[in-house]
Amino acid sequence: MRQFIEGLPKVELHLHIEGTLEPELMFELAKRNNIEIPFASPDEVHKAYQFNNLQSFLDIYYQGANVLISEQDFFDLTWAYLQKCHQDNVMHTEIFFDPQTHTARGISFDTVVNGIHSALIKAHEDLGITSHLIMCFLRHLDEESAIETLQYALTHKDKIIAVGLDSSESGHPPEKFQRVFQLALSEGFLTVAHAGEEGPSSNIQDAMTLLGVSRIDHGVRCVDDPKLIETLQVLQMPLTVCPLSNVKLKVFDSMEEHNIVELLHQGLCVTINSDDPAYFGGYMTDNFHQIALTHPVESKELAQFTRNAIKASFASESRKQDLLRHLEGYLVQGIH
Ligand code: HPA
Ligand code: ZN
Repeated sequence: MRQFIEGLPKVELHLHIEGTLEPELMFELAKRNNIEIPFASPDEVHKAYQFNNLQSFLDIYYQGANVLISEQDFFDLTWAYLQKCHQDNVMHTEIFFDPQTHTARGISFDTVVNGIHSALIKAHEDLGITSHLIMCFLRHLDEESAIETLQYALTHKDKIIAVGLDSSESGHPPEKFQRVFQLALSEGFLTVAHAGEEGPSSNIQDAMTLLGVSRIDHGVRCVDDPKLIETLQVLQMPLTVCPLSNVKLKVFDSMEEHNIVELLHQGLCVTINSDDPAYFGGYMTDNFHQIALTHPVESKELAQFTRNAIKASFASESRKQDLLRHLEGYLVQGIH
């Protein structure tokens, strides 16, 4: 099964680039930029990655991002992730970035976007990986800061396809960002939002109604509302689910209790993603594998996660056809 999963063509739709900062690179960048970090070795960083909930992770994740200063740093971070994509047969990826984490430290929006974007271009040229960038607003910050961030994005419209919403879900519901999302939509950006990760299932419905989202990030709390499940099924609203993240942040007590396979069987458009792989212990192959180890799934069901992700992606129709052809080609090889 592991061999089948490794070779399976994949599409990633829920990945925070700041969450791909491996401890080894964190140390290298801290040295390069003369920044003090409260750890003696990469091993000590790994040991610190024990989380009780979303907030305990976010505290350490924002601290880690402090080592990112120059365009080269953002390039190196992104390039390292894209090499993991290549290893895991991720053929298309849609990447979140959090500009406010960096602009608040005096790093310019241009530095962040240009560094990430040059790595994406190189990955297309050298590895054939296609991608899109999604700019997230930090929901614990206010509307004014989100609007200011959207203004920066207008000068990089050619590089950013959508806006999203991440950070602390509790106490920061979708309606707080209704106006900025309407503005983003009117400027031609697509929208997505984290909802129903730690927050209530009503956030999922509100993200659809108030923020006009094309996908829900996480969304696993939808099971609390049977009517919502029906809506998600009828609309085929994609959910970008992140198994390892959900267990690390205690959204589920164990991988066995994760509901992604149940949602797949109910006909929802669910996908598998890695969220913040450097912090949660695994990239795409590992996330697929963890589900396969703990749930009775057949290879055709694992392939369905990729089929759903292709359908849910913001790739062009021709790229979607191309990705589907790769997937079907892999499945008929019958080596598994
Ligand atoms: N949820 C909310 N905010 C985040 C996450 C997440 O899973 N990862 C990075 N920022
Ligand atoms: Zn996320």
